Amino acid sequence: MTEIRDLLLSRIRDVADYPEPGVMFKDITPLLADPAAFTALTDALAEIAESTGATKVVGLEARGFILGSPVAVRAGLGFIPVRKAGKLPGATLAQAYDLEYGSAEIEVHAEDLTGGDRVLIVDDVLATGGTAEASVQLIRRAGAEVAGLAVLMELGFLGGRARLEPALDGAPLEALLTV
Ligand code: PRP
Ligand code: MG
Repeated sequence: MTEIRDLLLSRIRDVADYPEPGVMFKDITPLLADPAAFTALTDALAEIAESTGATKVVGLEARGFILGSPVAVRAGLGFIPVRKAGKLPGATLAQAYDLEYGSAEIEVHAEDLTGGDRVLIVDDVLATGGTAEASVQLIRRAGAEVAGLAVLMELGFLGGRARLEPALDGAPLEALLTV
């Protein structure tokens, strides 16, 4: 696992002062462009999907789509997009959450999740945990169970894990890297 972590870490580019001064942005595009690294990441996340007994993978728009879709295919599971508000054409459930300035809303097609589903949520980064917490609430409101949350990287200094643990209610939070 250490070798995989080193490979993944080596393909994440730090971009200073993006999107605003003082922020160090973690750019995953070099990782996506490297087939060995992208495959290793997909395999590691698919293993988590299997170990949690997930029946569906939820990806969080936008980068969670890129990571979550191949995980669903590799694990033999369906993929459900959780989108930013206004993008899904059918009947949706919506969940609002607070940002540093203002608020945001995410949605899922209500018919995509049912009472028997166990959902693994996949995203690239856990920062403050606001997006992930809203997705947990959305999945529960749809009647499904949260099998776990899997991210490529956790920004430990932002405290997202502590915020999420009560919401996850014992479901695992797996981060392949903590930076
Ligand atoms: C980023 C990142 C996570 C989220 C983490 O998404 O991809 O989804 O922020 O932040 P949080 O833990 O503080 O909620 P963002 O919506 O900024 O961009 P994206 O559409 O490129 O995924
Ligand atoms: Mg995102």
